[in-house]
Amino acid sequence: MKVTIYLFCTAVLFLGQSRSEPSNKKFPENFRFGVATAAYQVEGGWADDGKGENIWDHYTHHQPDHIANNATGDVACDSYHKYMEDVEMLKNLGVNYYRFSLSWSRILPTGYTNQINEAGVTYYKNLISALKENGIEPFVTLYHWDLPQPLQEIGGWPNPLLEDNFAEYARTAFTLFGDDVKNWMTFNEPQQTCLFGYGLGATAPGASASGIGEYKCAYTIVKAHAKAYHIYDEEFRPTQNGRVSIVVDASWAEPGSDSDEDKEAAERLLQFSYGFYAHPIYHPDGNFPQVMIDRIADRSEKEGFPTSRLPELSTEEIEYIRGTFDFLCLNSYTTNMVKWTNDYAIGAPGYYADLSVSTYQDPSWNNSASGWLKVVPWGMRKLLNWVDQTYNHPEIVITENGFSDDGRLDDLTRINYYAEYLTSILEAVLEDGVNVTGYTAWSLMDNFQWNFGYLEKFGIYQVDFEDPDRTRTIKSSGEYYKSVIANKCLVDTCEE
Ligand code: NOJ
Repeated sequence: MKVTIYLFCTAVLFLGQSRSEPSNKKFPENFRFGVATAAYQVEGGWADDGKGENIWDHYTHHQPDHIANNATGDVACDSYHKYMEDVEMLKNLGVNYYRFSLSWSRILPTGYTNQINEAGVTYYKNLISALKENGIEPFVTLYHWDLPQPLQEIGGWPNPLLEDNFAEYARTAFTLFGDDVKNWMTFNEPQQTCLFGYGLGATAPGASASGIGEYKCAYTIVKAHAKAYHIYDEEFRPTQNGRVSIVVDASWAEPGSDSDEDKEAAERLLQFSYGFYAHPIYHPDGNFPQVMIDRIADRSEKEGFPTSRLPELSTEEIEYIRGTFDFLCLNSYTTNMVKWTNDYAIGAPGYYADLSVSTYQDPSWNNSASGWLKVVPWGMRKLLNWVDQTYNHPEIVITENGFSDDGRLDDLTRINYYAEYLTSILEAVLEDGVNVTGYTAWSLMDNFQWNFGYLEKFGIYQVDFEDPDRTRTIKSSGEYYKSVIANKCLVDTCEE
């Protein structure tokens, strides 16, 4: 009954805003649905039971003016204490899996393996067993942006030594949880970590070194990922039989016109944003994208640097990194239009100067509560086809996709977003033959949205952040997603 009402509302909205109808085809039998969160965004308990400080604790406490309303993740959704309620919500939705992240500092308070925090280990063990008892597969991300502060004190990700620190942390996690966790993701969206954290200085740890910091950061991260993968492969896979991958994010880049220049600019943007992290791992040739190697070397020389600002991967490193994935994890929310432009003048080094393209979003696209997130479902289908073709037809799991608003319960625009994006994904699967096997809605519940604090809400459950109990209430979109999962279908009745 409920489902019918929501679908009826959806249909009206589709007509009212001249949207395309959701598909009436069924998702394949083996298609899996999940929801996602991340430790810093939901857990709270920031200093409870021996947890160490991480860069987001540090950043929100020391630079509060960088976050909307000086918000912090100190309590967030309080999932550290309320995880059993989260499991109840997951059960109610009927998801096949729950994607969450481990807080490195909760397990290893110093960041190093010299000290293991048993209370933190117990927390994750309890969460994982509650999930398994309810038939929900844990999909675990090792690193969702919350580096232990002591590792930032030695430079953070631009320091290549962190490759080994991450590898040791990964080994610890595989040892502790690998009997029950069969799907591992090493890093979440390294582009956001490197570009905003170490290039533009806009997110934790707030280091501004554009044109240098993000490249050194990426160099460490792709190697750290590969090392963790090899450790799993050699030491754990034979007994644990799980899968390991890395989550890389992309927005589709649509050429601003049919001209060859705009097409080249759009491809260049995809390579600088997505390919930088994906190519060394997912592409059969490995290495960073050639367009980055060439452009950054050229500009570095003109700027007077003795070598390229982009670290060079040796032949051994390229071999070691490429192919270190068991499936491809993709996060995507939106699309940008791209136009070719003259190369930026040589001057101070910078990522955007190295890239030299101009981007914009079509004013006719529907808004969300996030400035960057416009609703462009057709971009998802194009992106999936591009990934499929560029990386040799991998199995793809969409590890994040979702929509932000003000947190209302009757969130019909979010229902539209999901129905339209899932239609686009279904078309990619059924009509284009792209091998997408899973879809993950971001997010299970409203949570700490980084620099935007609690202003932008992505949840399919509402959380009352004024209430010390952090009461959770399902939204209309939660009911809709539940019906999609139960029926593997986006409308009331699908073609059989
Ligand atoms: C990207 C990140 O993985 C997640 O932490 C964030 O909240 C959402 N997408 C929305 O911006």
